[in-house]
Amino acid sequence: MHFLSSVVTVLSSMALLASSYPTSFDIRDIPTTQLDDFKFWVQYAAATYCPNNYVAPDGYKPNCPVGNCPDVESADTTIKLSFSDDTITDTAGFVAVDNTNKAIIVAFRGSYSVRNWITDVTFPHIDPGLCEGCQAELGFWTAWEVIRDQIQDQLKELTSQHHDYKIVVVGHSLGAAIASLAAADLRTKGYDAILYAYAAPRVANPALAQFITQQGNNYRFTHLDDPVPKLPLLSMDYVHISPEYYITAPDNATITDADVTVLEGEVNFNGNTGTGLPDVLAFHSHVWYFIHADACKGPGLPFR
Ligand SMILES: *[C@@H]1O[C@H](CO)[C@@H](O)[C@H](O)[C@H]1NC(C)=O
Repeated sequence: MHFLSSVVTVLSSMALLASSYPTSFDIRDIPTTQLDDFKFWVQYAAATYCPNNYVAPDGYKPNCPVGNCPDVESADTTIKLSFSDDTITDTAGFVAVDNTNKAIIVAFRGSYSVRNWITDVTFPHIDPGLCEGCQAELGFWTAWEVIRDQIQDQLKELTSQHHDYKIVVVGHSLGAAIASLAAADLRTKGYDAILYAYAAPRVANPALAQFITQQGNNYRFTHLDDPVPKLPLLSMDYVHISPEYYITAPDNATITDADVTVLEGEVNFNGNTGTGLPDVLAFHSHVWYFIHADACKGPGLPFR
């Protein structure tokens, strides 16, 4: 009897441990229908790297000359607003309406200065005014703030014309960081934004990350040992938005549903975070997110 009760005690404390620290038992695969969504929305993130799309006139049909956004090209989509000329924050991207998929898309380009960003050591916080005790990364929040009014004006008009369209906010790399904060902010203003963040760095302190996690509708992807999602470091008081969709397929391989696992928690060592300290030599893992996400990136604008 004593033996039995101590077994029960051990078992229940193991259950407690398992619920506070995600273990391999929590790892789940994704349904194939979701995989199709993941492979689709990254194409909008990829399209932001093509200059023709981020300097597009109203009504422009987005396209990727390098061939990595075929499903965007075949959709009935037009760009309504593009932005790129901000010299302080390097914010670029577009707002588009996709009638085929009934969506209004807000897409942010990854910065051309991502390698410089990796070697940054400061990553200061700023209070974004979204919740009590919440702190966002200063550079990403500022990048969103400079364009926020223009995007909100556009969304106001587009949502009034298309009541039944979903709002999708996407980005890859530093563009995913801006997208994460943009989605969080837009939700507080009544827009039910769905976030697809590919290869995003950490953008928030624990209070803000939990706030965004609880808002829901977050799809945040990492790939193997990509160094970018490992920054800023946990020791700098930055954590991630949960859950993490962790992609384990090798570079350039077709990604199947078995290659994507869903990991809960703002800190989870079963995914990208557990693959060691950020290594710039692993930068190749940063570009393969279902497709070669930044293939449209030119030889490089100078860091301004
Ligand atoms: C993956 O594709 C990129 C771009 O075509 C190429 O530079 C890289 O070497 C490829 N990596 C592997 C492991 O094949």
